[in-house]
Amino acid sequence: MPVPIPSPFTPGALPHVLVGRVRERTRMGDLLARVATFGELAGPPVVLHAPRGLGKTSLLRDTEDRARELGFVTAWVACAKGSPMLTELASSVRRALVEAEVLDDRSTKRVLESIAVEFAIFGVSLSTEFATAPAGAEPPPAAIGGMERVLHEAAVAVRARGGAGLLVLIDELHAAPYAELGVLLNVLQNLAGRRAENPLAVMTAGLPSTPEMIMRAATFGERSEFIGLERFDEADSRRVLEEPAGAASVGWARAALDAGLAIADGNPYLLQLVGDSTWQAAGPEAGDVLELDDVDAGSDGMRGQLAAMCRARWDSASELEQAFLSAMAEYADEIVPRDHIATTMGRESRAISVPRARLIDRGVIEAAGRGRLRFTLPGMGAWIREFQAG
Ligand SMILES: Nc1ncnc2c1ncn2[C@@H]1O[C@H](COP(=O)(O)OP(=O)(O)OP(=O)(O)O)[C@@H](O)[C@H]1O
Ligand SMILES: [Mg+2]
Repeated sequence: MPVPIPSPFTPGALPHVLVGRVRERTRMGDLLARVATFGELAGPPVVLHAPRGLGKTSLLRDTEDRARELGFVTAWVACAKGSPMLTELASSVRRALVEAEVLDDRSTKRVLESIAVEFAIFGVSLSTEFATAPAGAEPPPAAIGGMERVLHEAAVAVRARGGAGLLVLIDELHAAPYAELGVLLNVLQNLAGRRAENPLAVMTAGLPSTPEMIMRAATFGERSEFIGLERFDEADSRRVLEEPAGAASVGWARAALDAGLAIADGNPYLLQLVGDSTWQAAGPEAGDVLELDDVDAGSDGMRGQLAAMCRARWDSASELEQAFLSAMAEYADEIVPRDHIATTMGRESRAISVPRARLIDRGVIEAAGRGRLRFTLPGMGAWIREFQAG
């Protein structure tokens, strides 16, 4: 009996086939090549920003894979609300050096020891003095100097062993403690002053609030390289559905593909979710074709998942933000003029800028041209209408 093929789709996990993102991959590849070729700093930090589910983490992981092939040692940190970032970064760098066996002779052992010492010093100064400092306080020089030495010595040690350099990847940067972000930016600014001595690249990702947060954390933060990720166009959306299935010799009927594309509306997470739920419903074998019926049969499970995501976004909104979202939901079109929202809420257009900014920062809504907004999760408008009706 033929064995059913496990789903090749990956909602919420790294994709088996990374589609598109050509411009972004080229740019990140160029920056890595600069470090590898010239042994110098790649430039200001890269900041990928986009609402949830658009592929930031996938792109960072892809960059990490490519960097390793080029001979980089890579250190990864995922920030979380309320957890320190810099001590986590220092230990991640240290772990990466140990794993890459960069630190197995005597001179490099010294680096390891100095990292341990710096780690202790700035770890303490961050957690005691700095954590209790008033907002806007200057970052402690000990922390900046310590982190600077950690990154410098690690990058130089990698290079001295014939490696390309050090790649630091920081995901969920919007969740980093604000003060620590200031320290990190100061460190990178100092390292840029001696770029030829620092074979290093720093690439980060976060929600749409991240660029603004960086610019507030340090004046020179604005020199970071900001790259916004967009939804997929139709051609790339098709590839997200077709290529993983095709690799298992399973096709999509035209009507099924069109239905899937309409549901996902270019959102990479939703494309993976549609693909996966359709696959689960069909249980295809090699040579089969996924039909419209399979999309329909899969859509119950998918709707449950989507409803849970809408619910979480709705529950995390304040009362005023919920009023804003309701006003958006009742508009007939997916793209909602700001004036309509203000009128529905009975306010001046200017008076709704605070909830608007907060919702954009959290990636719940996004700008869609001048004075227009839309939900980042397709189907959220319909969910709100149903929720309020029921
Ligand atoms: N280039 C791509 N090709 C195919 N699938 C992708 C691509 N990028 C992302 N995906 C899929 O989209 C979903 C979201 O990707 P990812 O986790 O990278 O997004 P994210 O922007 O980091 O989201 P979050 O803000 O929630 O962390 C995953 O299911 C992933 O498999
Ligand atoms: Mg992510």
